[in-house]
Amino acid sequence: MKGIILAGGAGSRLYPISKAYSKQLMYVYDKPMIYYPLSTLMLGGIREILLITTPEDQASFQRLLGDGSALGLKLEWAVQEEPKGIAQAFTIGAEFIGGEPVCLILGDNLFYGPYNFFREAIRGFGSGALIFGYRVKDPERYGVVEYDASDQVLSIEEKPLKPKSNFAVPGLYIYDGEVSRRAARLQPSPRGELEITDLNRAYLEDGQLRVNRLGRGIAWLDTGTTESLLEANSFIGSIEHRQGLKIGCIEEIAYRMGFLDEAAFKALLETLPRSPYREYLEQIAKDETH
Ligand code: TTP
Repeated sequence: MKGIILAGGAGSRLYPISKAYSKQLMYVYDKPMIYYPLSTLMLGGIREILLITTPEDQASFQRLLGDGSALGLKLEWAVQEEPKGIAQAFTIGAEFIGGEPVCLILGDNLFYGPYNFFREAIRGFGSGALIFGYRVKDPERYGVVEYDASDQVLSIEEKPLKPKSNFAVPGLYIYDGEVSRRAARLQPSPRGELEITDLNRAYLEDGQLRVNRLGRGIAWLDTGTTESLLEANSFIGSIEHRQGLKIGCIEEIAYRMGFLDEAAFKALLETLPRSPYREYLEQIAKDETH
């Protein structure tokens, strides 16, 4: 399966810290935010990834990640001229997708916990669309799923004033190869965006949408506001400090997933500046080989 990370957007809720550079380049504890969604895709076994950024920020993201070959990935790049909605990722990425199944993750979404839910979703994915439902206290900030008594999805509403459930749709979606064609048929919403909720609704109306509920053992954080950014920083920091293991460390994941063999991993470490980050990775290399 291919992957897309959508990392454009206005970041207006983080103004003025988002004035000079992209939200997804800001740090979450000890690494740039984009590392976390990238590591989610990698943990799902996805290696061919399109990164969509604003035109202004593309060069900075490229400085960070390059063509991905150092991590055993194949990264491609595209720009979104203006933040015209999440579903636009599929028209921008139509050529990259090439009619094959694709997983989209938003550049400001962090997942932590057992990754089986994601691997199984990818493995068992047939056709249509597969999204997730996650219980939150403030569903009105998100797309909200309404279930009937037998857990069938009745509706999905974008930022409803009166949410019909507490289940929000996280920024992680899997679609079949029809997605670009379907996205091209969407009309912009009153706020002028191609809405991901409209795309999901189109699949729902055709009986082609599945919504898997995520258990409470999985942490889903988004980092779009100053409060949620601070919370994500302290969440990641707390766990890393307790365990002595890093969350979203893309070099470690590339190695553990077998995208890099031992020699390639060690060669990569040689290119990193002397830092606690490099020391951590050197320890991983040592632990694994002794
Ligand atoms: P949002 O948080 O909905 O929007 P935003 O990042 O522009 O921030 P704000 O609402 O504060 O202005 O976006 C969720 C993610 O999707 C985020 O990683 C940015 C990305 N995105 C795009 O890349 N392009 C878009 O057109 C939209 C709407 C979002």
